Amino acid sequence: MTGEPRIGDVFGEMLRDAYAVHVGAGRRPLAGGRLPRPVIEIIERDDGLVNGAPAAHYLEGPEHWQPYDHRAVDRVRGETLDVGVGGGRIARELQARGVPVTGLDTSPGALRVSRHRGVRDLVLGTVDEHAAGDCRYDTFLLLGNNLGLFEGRERAPRFLAALAAMARPGAQIVAQGTDPYGTTDPLHTGYHERNRRRGRLGGQLRLRLRYRELGTDWFDYLVCSADELAELVHGTPWRLVDVDDRDAPYYLATLRLAE
Ligand SMILES: C[S@@+](CC[C@H](N)C(=O)[O-])C[C@H]1O[C@@H](n2cnc3c(N)ncnc32)[C@H](O)[C@@H]1O
Repeated sequence: MTGEPRIGDVFGEMLRDAYAVHVGAGRRPLAGGRLPRPVIEIIERDDGLVNGAPAAHYLEGPEHWQPYDHRAVDRVRGETLDVGVGGGRIARELQARGVPVTGLDTSPGALRVSRHRGVRDLVLGTVDEHAAGDCRYDTFLLLGNNLGLFEGRERAPRFLAALAAMARPGAQIVAQGTDPYGTTDPLHTGYHERNRRRGRLGGQLRLRLRYRELGTDWFDYLVCSADELAELVHGTPWRLVDVDDRDAPYYLATLRLAE
């Protein structure tokens, strides 16, 4: 035993348990072997910071959503790819509205939960893998902070190129991000500074997720300002056409395929 987690489908295992708690059936984590306890997503940052966040919101219906989730869904038009579909909370609502939606995710367990909850069209893989096929979309959704999948300066142009390869003329990306720079907490401002000294974006987080005995590999996840986003988009096939920051520090960015 090393004390290190076993690499596995952390998000999928966590969602499976959160779903069991949500519906009140199946394997549920118990405190003291009796009382149900909430399922918590454990997020480790590479400076040693550990955060826990309840996983239940990945399964919640529109009545519990944040206002920007509603505004994101209202922007959807045409054939839609929900990138990082998770437990399918957004895809289910789109289906109910008659929108043709495909859920893409790298987590087999998340896809199982989405399928169980009625999401019909699901694909396992990354955007690069999916772009190798012949599917085409009018809208790409990156919700639940999934602007983070841009990762940083190196990955963002390649990620955006993969989406462009699957885009119909006039296609849009609707992505939810968080501006990380409003804080005065030295733990975070110091982390941003350290990142910049190493040539990274301030909010280019190096993370791994943990659940029970499982962990992911370390990966980059981007929290950036709208100005940084504009720089990342510059020179790609996309134009940043709108930033809705009514719920700051959270924002919705809309990118349109350049003509
Ligand atoms: C923060 S959750 C957001 C889930 C969902 N969009 C929501 O709003 O509830 C991130 C999701 O993205 C998936 N994911 C992570 N990396 C991915 C990648 N490279 N390509 C596709 N999905 C990915 C995870 O498995 C997880 O389901």
